[in-house]
Amino acid sequence: MLIDSHAHLEMKEFEHDREQVMERAKLAGIDFIVTVGTNLSLSRKAVSLADQYDHIYATVGIHPHDVGKIGNKTYDDLRELARHKKVVAYGEIGLDFFRNIAPQAQQREKFSEQLLLAQELNLPVIIHDRDAHEQSLRMVRASGIRRGVFHCFSGDYEMAKQCLDLGFYLSVPGVVTFDKAKTLQNVVKHVPLSSLLLETDCPYLAPNPYRGKRNEPAYIVQTAKKVAEIKGLLWEDVAAVTAQNTLSLFHIEASLNK
Ligand code: NI
Repeated sequence: MLIDSHAHLEMKEFEHDREQVMERAKLAGIDFIVTVGTNLSLSRKAVSLADQYDHIYATVGIHPHDVGKIGNKTYDDLRELARHKKVVAYGEIGLDFFRNIAPQAQQREKFSEQLLLAQELNLPVIIHDRDAHEQSLRMVRASGIRRGVFHCFSGDYEMAKQCLDLGFYLSVPGVVTFDKAKTLQNVVKHVPLSSLLLETDCPYLAPNPYRGKRNEPAYIVQTAKKVAEIKGLLWEDVAAVTAQNTLSLFHIEASLNK
């Protein structure tokens, strides 16, 4: 089994060939794709894709870049969307102090509101943390939430251990295939496979040898192979265990009977 635990199939980059992209994913052996909302309209689109395709699951939430657009009704709309049986997580939410598109104080305020909302909805959270490790960890810890994933994990092994202590998974993007990604490779080497997920984050972050191109779910095979190489395992086993981790984090089998 193979799962892309974090894609953005709803984005405009896939507008013209979404069907072919999903076909290639199927040919690559991908069983499920979790497509992740980043603002209200894209969350809506993610849910509608999940509604349309059996092998697609969706999440809803407002990315730190987009928190400036949160209005009076936004959370009510997200609550409503989250009732769909194929919505399996809340996110991606968090802090991005690299691009700082929204002011940091506003990012913190909206992150904390959305952690509460995730709790109210009883959904695991997908955390986006870029250049904000300490504050992200502190806020997650304070929220009391103990089910979720740090997506595109970019911390070091010390941070990884703290995330694991909180019961969180770490998600490994295609970046791990880059020669310079020594910190991430070290994390992958030392963190047990039972705490790792695989993701593309497509259309972003294509792994080698596709680096610089539009990413897509089928390329997750490259990431699985790199993780296998680092850990000295068969890539099929890496695929199977990380897929099982994804199913259990997102309660995907349970959601089929919701
Ligand atoms: Ni993403």
